[in-house]
Amino acid sequence: MRDSLLIKAAFSEKTERPPVWMMRQAGRFMKEYWDIKNKYSFLEMCKTPELAADVTMLPVNLLGIDGAILFSDILVTGEAMGGDLSFQNGVGPKFANPVRTQADIDNLQTDVVHKLQYVADAIKVIQQRLNGSIPLIGFAGAPFTVMSYLVEGGSSKDFKLTKLMLHNEPEMAHQLLSKIASVTADYLNMQIAAGVNAVQIFDSWAQALAWDDYKEFSHRYINEIISKLNRKDIPVISFCKGSSVFAPLMAEAKPDVISIDWNVDLLDIKKRLPAGVAVQGNLDPHILYADKKVIKERIYRLFDRMKDEKGFIFNLGHGIMPDIPFDNVKYAVEVIKEYTPFRG
Ligand code: CP3
Repeated sequence: MRDSLLIKAAFSEKTERPPVWMMRQAGRFMKEYWDIKNKYSFLEMCKTPELAADVTMLPVNLLGIDGAILFSDILVTGEAMGGDLSFQNGVGPKFANPVRTQADIDNLQTDVVHKLQYVADAIKVIQQRLNGSIPLIGFAGAPFTVMSYLVEGGSSKDFKLTKLMLHNEPEMAHQLLSKIASVTADYLNMQIAAGVNAVQIFDSWAQALAWDDYKEFSHRYINEIISKLNRKDIPVISFCKGSSVFAPLMAEAKPDVISIDWNVDLLDIKKRLPAGVAVQGNLDPHILYADKKVIKERIYRLFDRMKDEKGFIFNLGHGIMPDIPFDNVKYAVEVIKEYTPFRG
């Protein structure tokens, strides 16, 4: 796996073309996902290694991407710590017992990685199926993003309760973040031990934070997690929405790759990062709704900018939306693989 396109690009080594994978590449935009989802609940799919492997393999077989991502969810760490997690169609994730008081925080457990053994089991099944073809990316949520679900009890538009805890009860917030960070580091090391070839940390909602708050309540814990990882030959990818602003700070936590949202020119931001930090991104996922002609033009525009760069992994700035046409995603992968002027 060390010689695969994805791992070489992640370590900023020369590759014959940029590797391509997409966040939420295994999901609701695929008919084959619904064939499975109509029989099992989302958490059953995550917790049954054979099913998690079936779903992980869908984009590998149907799209021809260069990296598989473990089928799971960032919120399984919160569940293992004591959160009462459920997913309902159209409602999204819910924690029935939100974490809002000191007692709630005290009740959260941290010695919990054994409860996530089903993830290690899924990784082993997936690696058997991949059989050395492409790398498998493991992942976890960043402490701030996971905290937001635990505190709000689900998805949120404005993160009001979470930010109130940061601002009014910073010590409580730090205790909560520190507990999540400790579980997350153990959990990612468990995934590495089980055989993933790269790991990505998702801080999807970091852009809700002011610069100082990002530094104090998010960056600090990502830094702590990355410093604890057994990362020899395992690249670490740091993703957040807001990376067009936070990337230079994110680089201080020493990830190998920073995954960039679509608000910035990818080459410009790469030039502002230390040498040897690769970038992943950064097509606006909405482009995949557009006409094929536009999809091709926008991919070429991005690739023409990046064509002389080592350390470029194609991805979207965020995940594929459930109603994006499958054919457009497949077409995008084909266009990327056919791009020839690449010299990075
Ligand atoms: O990328 C992949 O294909 C791998 C699998 C994956 C899922 N969730 C599957 C999933 C990954 C990497 C995640 C991470 C995740 N989960 C994040 C960070 C990534 C991001 O997109 O920012 C977040 C914020 C979550 C929390 C979460 N889980 C949300 C907000 C939702 C969707 C709610 C909704 O209904 O829109 C989920 C559920 C979820 N996770 C689904 C999938 C395929 C849909 C479940 C279903 O079929 O009902």
